[in-house]
Amino acid sequence: MGKRLSVIELQKYKSKGKRISALTAYDYYSAKIIDSTCMDMILVGDSLGMVFQGKSTTIPVTLDQIIYHTKIVVESTQNPVIVADMPFGSFQISTEKAVENAFRILKETGCNAVKLEGGKIIVPVVEQLAASGVPVFGHLGLTPQSINKFGSYKLRAKHADEAVILKKDALLLQKAGVCGLILEKIPAELAKEVTESLEIPTIGIGAGPYCDGQILVITDMLGFDLDVNFRFVRKYADLNGIIKNAVENYIKDVENGSFPSKEESY
Ligand code: KIV
Repeated sequence: MGKRLSVIELQKYKSKGKRISALTAYDYYSAKIIDSTCMDMILVGDSLGMVFQGKSTTIPVTLDQIIYHTKIVVESTQNPVIVADMPFGSFQISTEKAVENAFRILKETGCNAVKLEGGKIIVPVVEQLAASGVPVFGHLGLTPQSINKFGSYKLRAKHADEAVILKKDALLLQKAGVCGLILEKIPAELAKEVTESLEIPTIGIGAGPYCDGQILVITDMLGFDLDVNFRFVRKYADLNGIIKNAVENYIKDVENGSFPSKEESY
């Protein structure tokens, strides 16, 4: 360990038939623990607005916040590819502004790539970024930054017309130069079709088993929130229970005077 994986190496996984594992992270300890595993990629997602800041959507997340958290994650790791999410409003105003913001992210954090939500509409930005040497991941299906347009976080592209648009968008993004594509909350068979139609890897979240890789939000898979019961999240730990139990035991020990003990005192 110790040599950071590159986006190019990650892309080669597809032809080798090796699946990409990815998680989100936003802070030093999580990033450091992930770095001690063989995780391929960390996304500093704008999900941080919901799972780190406790907001109800990802809309309020700012470019400065993404830069702040991405810098921490980059500096806490040596191995995985680090991707920073471009937050809502940071890439829609104009291609120039989007490129300027992406440059800021790369220069100020040292991350390897950025990610943008959207289809055809982001093609000019992707083209410009790819031509300028900025690796870009696309993100189709459930795009949480469009919550005000769609009104829910339900399954996307369930109907044929939406599926056709998604398949076209995937090909357009590949042509524009994305290095990989996140597919969120779409039917597994559609994700399979898209994955097979592309040379670039797809990374799924709630998109079934046929993607070239999988990503989960770290706090969901670690079981921080008892209210998170999405079908696509497998809980690998119950950190809510573990933390609550530890805190309750600490309170008990403080109240009954057994903490600190003689050995824990000077
Ligand atoms: O912001 C995020 O964490 C994401 C993942 C859910 C893919 O976009």
